[in-house]
Amino acid sequence: MQTDVPDIELNDGNRIPQVGLGVLRIDDDGVTPVVESAIGLGYRHIDGAAGYDNEAGVGRALANLGVNRGERRAGFWITTKLKDSEQGYDSCLKAFDRQLGLLQLDYVDMYMIHWPTPFDWRTPETWRAFRRLHDEGRVRTLGVCNFMPSDLERLHDETGDYPAVNQIELHPTWQQRDVVDFCREHGIAVEADSPMARGADLAAGDGLIGRIAEAHGVSPAQAVLRWHIENGTIIIPKSVHPDRQRENLDLFGFALTPDEHAAIDALDGPVRAGHDPATFSYA
Ligand SMILES: NC(=O)c1ccc[n+]([C@@H]2O[C@H](COP(=O)([O-])OP(=O)(O)OC[C@H]3O[C@@H](n4cnc5c(N)ncnc54)[C@H](OP(=O)(O)O)[C@@H]3O)[C@@H](O)[C@H]2O)c1
Repeated sequence: MQTDVPDIELNDGNRIPQVGLGVLRIDDDGVTPVVESAIGLGYRHIDGAAGYDNEAGVGRALANLGVNRGERRAGFWITTKLKDSEQGYDSCLKAFDRQLGLLQLDYVDMYMIHWPTPFDWRTPETWRAFRRLHDEGRVRTLGVCNFMPSDLERLHDETGDYPAVNQIELHPTWQQRDVVDFCREHGIAVEADSPMARGADLAAGDGLIGRIAEAHGVSPAQAVLRWHIENGTIIIPKSVHPDRQRENLDLFGFALTPDEHAAIDALDGPVRAGHDPATFSYA
């Protein structure tokens, strides 16, 4: 098993482990053993959100393992996100206090705007609160999710900043190359959410993923996640099962051939697994 996950250096100088555990759709009680098992297997990065309604459960796992404060804290990267309904300056500061308390942390490694809500644009006020939290040392890295190039440009025009990370839906059948190219050109790291299309892309390409996996003696999940790793993308696959968590971290003992990598590139198509950021709000 090769689980020596590299770090990706961000435009603010911080280093994020390239693989993390996503915790969407796991209830608050259920998430505690899931995070404990992942950390036991070597995960150093957890991707959560206020909107997942399980920050208290994540916080319990970190506290139970003694990694939430003290000497071991620096070895972990904990991300959380602001709910859309709490965007704004005062509301963001208030939400962050609650979130930090639930997580039982003194700081988070990354705080993200969860959705751009361009139809109800409050990013400049929210970003002012984000900067304050950063200046106070309570957030190390500022990020956004689901921002399209037009949203990133608007953020930059109105605040002078680009975020360090943009977390977007990204998998073989929905590659969003225009967004990825924009991020690369502007020094913004790309983080793939739903990196396996919630499992749907494991069967992509009429069995192509399965055949590539078989050639390397790995699982379809490992073939897809290895493709992301080779693209330099940060990934946050979610699994509640320890054996799958282990697989999803074991991505560094094999490499796709150039032809295999290109064949997965060629699966790109309009197959969104999640929501359209132009119209969606998670509330
Ligand atoms: N910012 C955003 O708007 C946003 C949106 C979506 C997701 N996210 C983040 O991204 C994370 C990952 O996305 P996701 O949960 O939507 O989808 P995903 O990671 O692409 O897929 C998760 C699904 O695949 C299954 N799975 C995991 N590992 C597997 C393996 N090795 N073999 C076979 N099946 C496997 C899981 O089932 P089991 O759990 O039963 O193993 C689950 O059903 C989320 O948890 C969240 O942190 C963020």
